Amino acid sequence: MYQILDRGILNRKTFIYGKFDIMNQLKQQALENDHQDPLGHKRADFHLPLTPSGDPYVYFCGNSLGLQPKNVANYIQQELNDWKNLGVEGHFHAKNPWMPYHEFLTEQMADVVGAKPIETVVMNSLTVNLHLLMVSFYRPSPERYKILIEKNAFPSDQYAVKSQLKFHGFSPDDALLELPPSEGKAYTETQDIMDFLDKHGNETALVLIGGVNYYSGQYFPMKEITEKAHKMGAVVGFDLAHAAGNIDLKLHDTNADFAAWCSYKYLNSGPGGLSGIFVHERHAHDFELPRFAGWWGHDKQSRFKMPPDFIPEAGAEGWQMSNPPILAMAALRASLEHFAEVGMSALRQKSLRLTSFLERCLHEVLSDKVQIITPTDSKHRGCQLSLRIKDGDKKVFERLTAKDVIADWREPDVIRVAPVPMYNSFMDAYEFAARLKEALEEE
Ligand SMILES: Cc1ncc(COP(=O)(O)O)c(C=O)c1O
Repeated sequence: MYQILDRGILNRKTFIYGKFDIMNQLKQQALENDHQDPLGHKRADFHLPLTPSGDPYVYFCGNSLGLQPKNVANYIQQELNDWKNLGVEGHFHAKNPWMPYHEFLTEQMADVVGAKPIETVVMNSLTVNLHLLMVSFYRPSPERYKILIEKNAFPSDQYAVKSQLKFHGFSPDDALLELPPSEGKAYTETQDIMDFLDKHGNETALVLIGGVNYYSGQYFPMKEITEKAHKMGAVVGFDLAHAAGNIDLKLHDTNADFAAWCSYKYLNSGPGGLSGIFVHERHAHDFELPRFAGWWGHDKQSRFKMPPDFIPEAGAEGWQMSNPPILAMAALRASLEHFAEVGMSALRQKSLRLTSFLERCLHEVLSDKVQIITPTDSKHRGCQLSLRIKDGDKKVFERLTAKDVIADWREPDVIRVAPVPMYNSFMDAYEFAARLKEALEEE
């Protein structure tokens, strides 16, 4: 369906008119694409923030905080009612008993990231989970103790990794390896990643990369990285904060050892929402792996016999520590229902179209002041495009904000925009480009 539209309506070579006409053509195509969009109806399932005049903002910040699904309130209300009416009995007699509540999320979460249920559980927050997983999977020796991350990794990951190195008695100056971007680019070409691994793999204990980098928007070749790093003898983990719910991941098939992600971005679980973890099936029954223990990770059969010694549950569940926050889980459950309905494959299909369309619109409005630094090949990116503003001039961003666009500014010089296929439209993409054009012209 999209192919017909792409072929027919907007062949750039046919334009003999000025930019005004091109913008008009793009607007027509946006309307047509929305009309034909098989996922277009999902927008109505989310609360779009409204301007004082009652129109929706152009919300391109789902890579920071996803919008609220309209069914969240009911999901939370159900648990509030059961708590009100049942008290502690809700653990067993609530409509959705709280005792096994985390299990209600596992299958859908596993589907979102392409994992098996035994490999996945929802627990804690992301940075906490990265630490807990490093306890198990960062096992340095005097010969092999370095951790490899991507340069410009999200600061929390940098802090977490550096503190782990220090905890084990190493200096980050020596033991932290940072994969640099390729020459003249904001991202790293696959060959350069492989060369870096060739050079440093033998001294690396752990590779911990963001599946999609928060700044450049690069989607790293996870399977190739894992294969190469494993060959070199390193353990591999991924921070999927910007990949879960964005990319149609096949996490099990990447063969990575572990991963963690948050759910408040593309997974729309609300501010501070819970994190998911992945531990590959091959580690599911490895009870010798060191881990920090808590009662919720204990073997379910004997947990309430209150034994003094910890016996881990098999699989990812064995990394849980505390009984989980039901209200936060209810919000995530509401959102996962939408992912189960639509499926990641359909979302990714729309996402590829939507981001390419945004890119197409942006090419009509960009001046030498703005440059897209995200990979141009859609295989190497998710929905996000990062726009580098010359000289880090934040005024462009401020003018854009004044035009009812919600995007974000990342120091030192980037506006990140994320057209989210679940609720953003092709008209949002057109509107963003048109408003950016105005913001640039107002200089
Ligand atoms: C890539 C990445 N890692 C880690 C974090 C920190 O997440 P949390 O505050 O849930 O620990 C974020 C938050 O945005 C992130 O984008």
